[in-house]
Order: sequence, then C-alpha cells, then structure tokens
Amino acid sequence: MNRKLKNFPFVLLFLFSVSASYAKTATTETTLHDFMEDYTKPASKKAKKGDKAALERILKEIPNWALDEQKTKWKEITDAAFASGDLESSCKNCHKEYKKEYKKSYRKRPIQVSNELINFLKNSK
Ligand code: HEC
Repeated sequence: MNRKLKNFPFVLLFLFSVSASYAKTATTETTLHDFMEDYTKPASKKAKKGDKAALERILKEIPNWALDEQKTKWKEITDAAFASGDLESSCKNCHKEYKKEYKKSYRKRPIQVSNELINFLKNSK
C-alpha cells in the first residue's frame, strides 16, 4: 500500500482527537453582565414555558464565575433554588444581595464560559 495512504487513518484520528479536546477545553471570554443578558434571560423565558434544561445548566455554572469570596454564597443561592424547585427565586435572591456592587466594581471583569455550554445554549434558544 502507498505509504501516504497508510498513514491517512492516523492523521484523521489525530485531527479528530485534537478537535475533540479543543471543544472540551476551549472557553469564550465574556462578562457576567453580557452572559446574563445573552443567555440567562432567554433561558429564564424558556423555563417559564416549561423547558428548564438551559436554565438548570446555567444555574449550576453561575457560582463558578463568582468572586472567590462569594462563591460559597452564590452556590447556596442556586442550591436553594434547585431544592425548592423554584429556579426563578435565585435571580432575585442573588441580585438583591450582589448585583449592585458587582455592577459598580466588576462590570468589566472577564469570565470564561466553556464553549460546550455556549453551544448548548445557542442550540436551545
Ligand atoms: C448567584 C448570582 C446570580 C444569579 C443566581 C442570577 N444572577 Fe443575574 N446577575 C448577577 C449579577 C452579579 C449581575 C450584575 C452583572 C453586571 O452588571 O456586571 C446580574 C445581572 C443580570 C442581568 C443584567 C441586567 C441587570 O439587571 O443588571 C440580567 C438580565 C440578569 N442578571 C438575569 C438573571 C436571571 C433571569 C436570573 C435567574 C433565572 C439571574 N440573573 C440569576 C448575579 C446573578
């Protein structure tokens, strides 16, 4: 067999694994504000119509984007929302406590969102 052809499957396999790991680890930089507007708001609208999948994934992720000293609190807020089954309660509970200060001091703070999540949310809009 021609040597080039013999290597072809391995080249394909290599390209495939590189792109697969890229998809898993790559992130998109945005701000919390833009993520809330672009994805949390539409996901909340969908949840009100009965499809909660997107909002559930977002609420699981939000605490990871908190300031280090607020992570535990943010996780408590989202955990409480899951436990009560009222996902929307998390919006107000977090906003009334943390939004004003975050907006004032951290409006431009970058957050990294996995491309896997972004793609999922884009497809579910
Ligand atoms: C655990 C914290 C937390 C939770 C839960 C949360 N948010 Fe936010 N949200 C924030 C913070 C902090 C900001 C301010 C970001 C900024 O302006 O930089 C914000 C800003 C926003 C904004 C931008 C406009 C505005 O009011 O300033 C929208 C829209 C928004 N959130 C929607 C939602 C919705 C809908 C939910 C619930 C389904 C939700 N958020 C849940 C923390 C949270």
